[in-house]
Amino acid sequence: VSLFAASANAQGYPERTITMVVPFSAGGPTDTVARLVAESMSKDLGQQIIVENVGGAGGTLGAGRVAQADPDGYTLLLHHIGMATSATLYRKLAYDTLNAFEYVGLVTEVPMTIVARKDFEPTDLKGLIDYAKANKDTVTVANAGIGAASHLCGMMFMSAIETQLTTVPYKGTGPAMTDLLGGQVDIMCDQTTNTTKQIQGGTIKAYAVTSPKRLKIFPDLPTAEEAGLQGFQVGIWHGIYAPKGTPAEVTDRLSKSLQKALKDENVAARFGELGTEPSSEADATPAALKAKLESEIARWKPVIEAAGQYAD
Ligand code: MLT
Repeated sequence: VSLFAASANAQGYPERTITMVVPFSAGGPTDTVARLVAESMSKDLGQQIIVENVGGAGGTLGAGRVAQADPDGYTLLLHHIGMATSATLYRKLAYDTLNAFEYVGLVTEVPMTIVARKDFEPTDLKGLIDYAKANKDTVTVANAGIGAASHLCGMMFMSAIETQLTTVPYKGTGPAMTDLLGGQVDIMCDQTTNTTKQIQGGTIKAYAVTSPKRLKIFPDLPTAEEAGLQGFQVGIWHGIYAPKGTPAEVTDRLSKSLQKALKDENVAARFGELGTEPSSEADATPAALKAKLESEIARWKPVIEAAGQYAD
């Protein structure tokens, strides 16, 4: 009966509003990506996709919410690399990462930037490293909780300089940015989707990008490797998921819609301004996202184990 009901539903899909859960605060980088894509997909699907922000626990609360939702195509999750890192970072997760979801497709690739409040003393990455080592008891690092991209990047930075700093967790880097702008916290490693406007406006200081090459939007900003952190590269990717059991007709329909949205001129232009790369048509597919998640879990597991930081 349920199989019949599922395929009958899939035929007319979508018949009502769809909710896309973003597992971080409104106004942050994941939210920005989700709202741009959701708006464009809504036009193609003929039904609205509403973004719901379910922040907390580094993205795992929102992911857990979607894992438990009805598998009918009306609740989706847009999450990033944290889907892969949290599988190792959390000793106990409320869901089984590789078995609790169906896949729609990859959405974007986004580099990160190491940034600081505007009046923070160090002027370049080398200066930041020396300063952080000399002032490890007072320097504060903002992140969006264990499992966030900012957490991963901050953890890599602290391990690279062999110095543990005080971390300050938020429900997203949207609110963390507000505190960086207000001078309540010193540094952060955050996606360009969230930092570009502030860096260009001179309201925060940027030390490096985490991409293998410099970015077109910041030709003068060195890569972390150029600035002295050997092997320091991190790229954030986003994907759209649905609860396990969502019919393949539905995830395929959503994937087609996602592919169109990523070619939408407005979406591409906005992403371009924010140093955010839309995924190719071949990557905006269920199979590509599944493969990416599997390979990224395997890739980050030893890095996290070496850092020895876990959440219970
Ligand atoms: C956000 O949307 O707030 C971010 O993606 C948080 C993070 O992962 O650093």
